[in-house]
Amino acid sequence: MTLDNGEKKLRSRAWFDNPDNADMTALYLERYLNYGISREELQSGKPIIGIAQTGSDLSPCNRHHIVLAQRVREGIREAGGIAIEFPVHPIQETGKRPTAGLDRNLAYLSLVEVLYGYPLDGVVLTIGCDKTTPAMLMGAATVNIPAIALSVGPMLNGWHKGERTGSGTIVWKAREMMAAGEIGYSEFIDLVASSAPSTGFCNTMGTATTMNSLAEALGMQLPGSAAIPAPYRDRQEMAWRTGKRIVDMVHEDLKPSDILTKDSFRNAIVVNSAIGGSTNAPVHITAIARHIGVELEIDEWQAIGHKVPLLVNLQPAGEYLGEDYYHAGGVPAVINELMGQGLIHENALTVNGKTIGENCATRPIQDDRVIRRFDNPLKADAGFIVLRGNLFDNAIMKTSVISSEFRERYLSDPAHPGMFEGKAVVFDGPEDYHHRIDDPALEIDEHTLLFMRGAGPIGYPGAAEVVNMRPPAYLIKQGITALACIGDGRQSGTSGSPSILNATPEAAAGGNLAIIRTGDRVRIDLNKGTANILISDDEIATRREALNDAGGFKYPPHQTPWQEIQRGLVDQLGNGGVLKPAVNYQRIAQT
Ligand code: FES
Ligand code: MG
Repeated sequence: MTLDNGEKKLRSRAWFDNPDNADMTALYLERYLNYGISREELQSGKPIIGIAQTGSDLSPCNRHHIVLAQRVREGIREAGGIAIEFPVHPIQETGKRPTAGLDRNLAYLSLVEVLYGYPLDGVVLTIGCDKTTPAMLMGAATVNIPAIALSVGPMLNGWHKGERTGSGTIVWKAREMMAAGEIGYSEFIDLVASSAPSTGFCNTMGTATTMNSLAEALGMQLPGSAAIPAPYRDRQEMAWRTGKRIVDMVHEDLKPSDILTKDSFRNAIVVNSAIGGSTNAPVHITAIARHIGVELEIDEWQAIGHKVPLLVNLQPAGEYLGEDYYHAGGVPAVINELMGQGLIHENALTVNGKTIGENCATRPIQDDRVIRRFDNPLKADAGFIVLRGNLFDNAIMKTSVISSEFRERYLSDPAHPGMFEGKAVVFDGPEDYHHRIDDPALEIDEHTLLFMRGAGPIGYPGAAEVVNMRPPAYLIKQGITALACIGDGRQSGTSGSPSILNATPEAAAGGNLAIIRTGDRVRIDLNKGTANILISDDEIATRREALNDAGGFKYPPHQTPWQEIQRGLVDQLGNGGVLKPAVNYQRIAQT
């Protein structure tokens, strides 16, 4: 509704200042007054700004938002708004069983209900740990009230014996050292703990740094916000600026649908390649796109992103960590460098009301050891490729993490560059893998392809980050640290494994991973983008019939009500893993 002076009437007025419905207005007001906020404030006509608080003692990565929210409030107040902070369902990546992936859609759903059902004119989305970022952006997309994201920032760099230890990445290294008998249980834990010296999210280029960087590349954060380490004073200042800005965004009626356009998603794909972003990014970015109503195909990740080189030299692909990323210029410097190559849609609008091109034009690289120049990248072709065949309709692979040793071992046939063939060894879920990986009877050798199935959004509710499997200990002792892994689950963004992931459809949703058997030959062709079991169509049909007769693909029983509800509604990873009915609801604050 528009007022006489041309300004849009704030939606919070329907609750707090509606003389036509005095009964309800009185009821709404009296309860919000009960902690001391005054009628004068609530009826002042000032925007009511929600602070969606994802930090708590259960969510250590985002916990610092509890402190930052104070500066956000001060910014909101200074710009003439009123802050109302509310809790968001916690999602702790490493602490939630069976997997934090289960909770992204739950936090999304609950945020939608809060933003739609309460008197909020705009919202500050506090983002950080892996799934908190997509959950918040998905919710803001569905409701479509003015929204701005604020990163909590990465932890300070971890150190051990003079070397940088990065979160997550150090675990993959430490478990190889333990499997090889170089360290024991206690040293293992000390080594891993050294990577977490302060408040904040993972300091590597895992899913958290990826998604926070992409939230900025999408235009949903103030420029430079993603990379500031959590404990730095600049982070407090950014919180204050973010609070100030959201009030103006409400007056300008600048909404997620103005910012999350096709061009901003294209920018996110390009930036994801240049930063060496997580293989979880396509899942989450697709989900955000579907909730705002922008068409984004999985193939665009290869078409737009594959040829972009890796510029950001952060672990796991490189050597540095979060503090270094910030000092080198963070996301604006990466985008500035990509702009020089014409790879960015510079007209995409951002939360500060300016275009991404305007924001980044004056922000060059500050340290080209950490953010490389385009003509001196860490690696060429840093994006994903999309594979398909009789195993699945689509799956993705980050080819930039293929080591030269791996390439030599699997991809050395000069007659067939990019092609490899091998024997499949199949595991049914992570427990089966942990139980049997070191069993010599499996006869796993350096050319084996390891399969993980039953790990998708239905099979292992929420989709487990388990596809990157370590080889058996006897191979690690021979120096074989990575085997080709293929599966319908996900992989941690902190892992540098060359795995084929997010297979869609998963075994539990009718995909042919359900009928592959240990001993089958499998052929992968990276150049053609194909992945096939070398059996006839008749054999596939026979196996599928036998599976159906046996009652279909088996997965563990539901443990909680939400597991059952989500299993019945969830889409596949290639489609963003969204709740299928939820994409029918778009821009609902306007209706
Ligand atoms: Fe929360 Fe990595 S575990 S950011
Ligand atoms: Mg993760």
